Amino acid sequence: MPEHSGYSRINQRIAEELKSIVGRANVIFADREKLEPYSHDEVAEDMHFSLPEAVVKPESALEISRIMKLANRYMISVTPRGAGSGLSGGAIPVYGGIVLSFERMNRVLNIDLDNLMVEVEPGVVTNTINEELKEYGLMFAGYPMSLETCFIGGNVAENAGGGKAIKYGVTSRYIMGLEFVTAEGEIIKLGGKVRKNVTGYDLIHLLAGSEGTLGIFTKITLSLVPIPGFRAVLLALFKSTEDAISVVPGLLRVGKIIPASIEYMDRLSVTTTCEYLNEVLPYRDSEAMLLIEIDGKTEDEVSRDYEVVGDICLKKGAFEVYVADNKTTIERVWSVRRNIAEAFKVDTAHQSLEDIVVPTASIPDFMKDLQALAVKNGVDIPCYGHAGDGNLHATVLKPKLWDEEKWLKKLDTVLKELYRITVGYGGEISGEHGIGSKRKKYIGINLSQGTIELMKRIKKAFDPNNILNPGKIFPDI
Ligand code: LAC
Ligand code: ZN
Repeated sequence: MPEHSGYSRINQRIAEELKSIVGRANVIFADREKLEPYSHDEVAEDMHFSLPEAVVKPESALEISRIMKLANRYMISVTPRGAGSGLSGGAIPVYGGIVLSFERMNRVLNIDLDNLMVEVEPGVVTNTINEELKEYGLMFAGYPMSLETCFIGGNVAENAGGGKAIKYGVTSRYIMGLEFVTAEGEIIKLGGKVRKNVTGYDLIHLLAGSEGTLGIFTKITLSLVPIPGFRAVLLALFKSTEDAISVVPGLLRVGKIIPASIEYMDRLSVTTTCEYLNEVLPYRDSEAMLLIEIDGKTEDEVSRDYEVVGDICLKKGAFEVYVADNKTTIERVWSVRRNIAEAFKVDTAHQSLEDIVVPTASIPDFMKDLQALAVKNGVDIPCYGHAGDGNLHATVLKPKLWDEEKWLKKLDTVLKELYRITVGYGGEISGEHGIGSKRKKYIGINLSQGTIELMKRIKKAFDPNNILNPGKIFPDI
């Protein structure tokens, strides 16, 4: 863990004070084995791991307020943590201190069928919200790909996006109300069950995506939409990425259809995942695949739409289009897409899963540059992701024969170049996983000095002592 002279270490006396706030059973202290699971998220490389000094599991906003007042008094850093499914080291306690774990704040508080809203605590597994809403025919539509493991509080902190953003948007679109505790321990309520709100600054949308650096969420109010009556998934096979991506604008402009998902997978992503899942997809001769999900109210509407989508794919060069229109086959196809990140991780822990985002029309040129970058540096960079949003998971893999030193040096070069290419297309270095600790040293490639300074002034206003999730987003605080 890097030394940071500004923070105090947690001693036995402070640990006792923490126990008096949340109860003895809800503090882990001086127990390396029990602290270890809180030292990392889903980022593969262990250089991004860091052990907390204590894990504290509060139950209410009031308890969190007391913890923050204590942390300010002693100058102890506090890192909020959801399920630990993040991909940028956002929940890693870079300077040790307290990890504030939300595992006990896991209640769905209220399903409001008249206002079409749900109120939840931050530690609810995102999929649980939708499981509970199912019987009412409603859903929270802003969920990410990791919905079965992630917590909603983490989704808000990262403003998580996912495979359905092209039609349904990302997490922040659905946050109507937010209760949070400031770094100094004040409990603040924003919005509520209203769908429009321009009263003062839009702090909800500043906090969404703030990566746990501006406030600690304690209650989240989400707006709901009806579950679509029917779904179908098309799997379209192409000889080139260019052909595959050329489909995207036509679906909306010519087909007048907004698919629920337009996901892209390259050959190595599909083959690695099929092998991992022991699955067979018809990927022969295909360099690029699109998974396009259509949803709608009636079966007729959905089949009319997928005919149109299928035609557009064929016109744009697809040599095969398969349709999955029952639950089992839809799940089979999605399972391959959802498991790509995990499949690469099982393959090697030495890798960097990226989530750059470029304007959609730039994807084919970007992909050419990405391949040139891979060849130039002698690494594989398979790529998959959310083609409908331009949000691509280029994944830099360590060649098996390289030692760690060579790999880490090269990775740094590759990432810098990748980010420069991305920014050159008018893109951003993170579309959904966040900057966290993993990308903070590269933020200057993307944002101007003036922008960074302005963001730091916002951070200072919310957290004058810099105790809330320090060591994130910015390289020097
Ligand atoms: C996905 C995760 C890695 O899209 O964001 O699979
Ligand atoms: Zn993704």
